[in-house]
Amino acid sequence: MASVEILEVAPRDGFQSVRPFIPTERKIALIEELAACGFPRMEIGSFVSPRAVPQLADTGEILKRARLPNSLRPVVLVPNAKGLELALAAGVKEISWVISVSESHNRSNVNRTVDESFRNFEAAWAGLGRDRPKLRLGLSTCFDCPWEGRISEDAVVRAVERAIAAAPEVEIGIADTTGRAATDHVGSLLARLVPRYQSERVRFAYHGHDTYGLGVANAIEAWRQGVRVFDGAAGGLGGCPFAPGAAGNTASEDLVFAFEHMGVKTGIDLAKLLPAADHIITVAPEQAGGKLRTVPRKRALAGFGAATQGIPA
Ligand code: COA
Ligand code: ZN
Repeated sequence: MASVEILEVAPRDGFQSVRPFIPTERKIALIEELAACGFPRMEIGSFVSPRAVPQLADTGEILKRARLPNSLRPVVLVPNAKGLELALAAGVKEISWVISVSESHNRSNVNRTVDESFRNFEAAWAGLGRDRPKLRLGLSTCFDCPWEGRISEDAVVRAVERAIAAAPEVEIGIADTTGRAATDHVGSLLARLVPRYQSERVRFAYHGHDTYGLGVANAIEAWRQGVRVFDGAAGGLGGCPFAPGAAGNTASEDLVFAFEHMGVKTGIDLAKLLPAADHIITVAPEQAGGKLRTVPRKRALAGFGAATQGIPA
């Protein structure tokens, strides 16, 4: 049976641009509710400068205190060697290291040239021993940059090759940071990447935003090109504070519905995810996105094997 993995990123991409500070207790309650929906992985916070992203300054405390199922692997975002050091000190087993393909976004996001970020990554990664964490190398702005517009496919190919040269065992996140990728662009880039580089040791993940309503279509296109890991945020929360005009991630519940409706298993309990999404967007109702939550719940869940009794039509 065909299956995909949905990686829930609301506790990082979703929370990071929310203001004011969400109390740690509240974050933990929302994360625990999401964790109970069946996600195999969840991106929980980041080790970045607390001046750059004050909302995620409590990541270490959350990792210590949140009660997560054993089946769930937490992933933490890091932008540099210092973040890696903090993640390792916190006992993190899987990191998501982020570098942008476009110079302007990399400068805005991490105050470095793309080459500086890669050199920083290469040195830090080479310095780790055999007990190094699992690695997602998240490539931001693979399609569109708020300042540079359309990104050349050649630039993404070069970044992918550099990532694999430094880390032969890696999950590479292909990100549409602004949500502006056209579906044929997603198809043409991934048709160049997946057949050539995906292997037992290298796999691709697709990270999409839904700013222009193309999030689900683009994820399905990525799936058609052979991608099997997808990032989503419950309630469509999120957006990069360093990429003006980017709305939230494609809603996890929309991705689950789309894939399951095609007979592609996600392992996620939609009857739990929908209320969890309703709860998480209360931290920033103005950022809420996604479509499935607007459908009467009984209809949204019809055919999903969930107990719909007692749920209003
Ligand atoms: N975690 C915590 N603190 C960090 C850090 C990290 N990963 N990296 C650097 N710092 C601290 C340094 O210790 C230094 O502290 P000090 O002023 O007390 O000495 C300070 O931040 C400045 O360090 P520097 O290396 O000069 O950073 P910078 O000002 O050039 O900023 C980043 C670079 C990467 C730290 C910053 O741009 C950042 O955190 N960006 C995160 C972006 C992000 O999360 N985007 C969303 C996800 S895509
Ligand atoms: Zn994102």
